[in-house]
Amino acid sequence: MDKAKRKAIIAGNWKMNKTPSEATALLNQITPLVSDADCEVIACVPYVDIAAAIEATKGTNVKIGAENCHWAESGAFTGEISTGMLKELGVEYVVLGHSERRQYFGETDETVNKRTKAALAAGLKPIVCVGELLWERECDITEEVIARQIKLDLWDVTEDELKNVVIAYEPVWAIGTGKTATADQAEEVCAFIRAQLAKLYNQAAADGVTIQYGGSMNDGNADELLSKVNVDGGLIGGASLVAEKFAAIVKAASK
Ligand code: 13P
Repeated sequence: MDKAKRKAIIAGNWKMNKTPSEATALLNQITPLVSDADCEVIACVPYVDIAAAIEATKGTNVKIGAENCHWAESGAFTGEISTGMLKELGVEYVVLGHSERRQYFGETDETVNKRTKAALAAGLKPIVCVGELLWERECDITEEVIARQIKLDLWDVTEDELKNVVIAYEPVWAIGTGKTATADQAEEVCAFIRAQLAKLYNQAAADGVTIQYGGSMNDGNADELLSKVNVDGGLIGGASLVAEKFAAIVKAASK
């Protein structure tokens, strides 16, 4: 499939940054700068910022996402947030399986899969993150790691549901380090992810999936990364907290 037919998506992942009033201020800066974007623009914000963020982006082309969700509808899960809570606020996307969740909070492929299925069942669009550690790349098992994550994280996700799934390839060694994967490295793994999807589903289904790159993507390198045929967008950490930088990446994706 022609890349131009896939939905290009630039999503900010704010991580644990910005209070609700700071979120409003940042979104008020971002929205006018991206109003003519020719791609989908999303800000994934901390739970407590969601209501303010939805309010600040009302009537704009910026959509709001969450940074995680639980798989149960309700119950004794202290500190967790359900898909229903997010839906009621007007959230459309949810980041799942981020490497920071996997590294610091014991997230596994099994729990990522449970969250992914719950999100899809609730009508949320999951942005499922996969990526290898530095030593896994050095040991030359990047493809094995990615293949395993894709297979397990999407276990039992139907072809129809796959239409609402976004995959983010985020090499863990490139996150917040200023070390970006080269455009060729990003393309190589994003193409491999698409090939895995084709194996698990079929080529047409795989061709329709938006695959983002994430890991120190910024206004200086976005053009080159996004020029690659299998890199359909970006999941942006640090640079998504600076309106001008985020807007420049959106512009690069809109070409
Ligand atoms: P940075 O852009 O800060 O490297 O973070 C990437 C990321 O983790 C997005 O989810």
